[in-house]
Amino acid sequence: MSQIVLLVSGPNLNLLGDREPEVYGTDSLDDHVAAAAAVAERCGLVVEHHQSNDEAVIIDCIQQARRRCAAIIINPGAFTHYSWAIHDALAAFEGPVVELHLSNPNAREPWRHTSVVSPVATGTIVGFGGHGYELAVEAVSRLLAR
Ligand code: DQA
Repeated sequence: MSQIVLLVSGPNLNLLGDREPEVYGTDSLDDHVAAAAAVAERCGLVVEHHQSNDEAVIIDCIQQARRRCAAIIINPGAFTHYSWAIHDALAAFEGPVVELHLSNPNAREPWRHTSVVSPVATGTIVGFGGHGYELAVEAVSRLLAR
């Protein structure tokens, strides 16, 4: 049976393609999920995607991945910068965690320079736009093959 990679998308990412296209590009979230799923299939993995604007739903989703999913790829949106509850949920997950951002938050407003998720991520992929989704799945595949 294929290992499951949980892909979590945080607030406002449901608007991708329409929202600030000069920052986040014109592809929709469905386009990014499809790209991630295609790479996953080549790697013998399966992507399970959840998007929510609600912090509690994201935390439940991460908790339900424990002992069920092999890895987590998460773009927490603005929760990146202040959700210690998402930090704690990820800390309780036993597998690799990849933090993913379309833009490079470090090159933007100062309040985006802090990530409370990075300390519990195995690694972080930022600034590569939609390509980051494919890179994240490749990174997870390598980590799981170790
Ligand atoms: C983002 C960066 C965050 O700062 C922002 O709040 C987002 C998107 C990104 O993918 O670049 O919603 O996570």
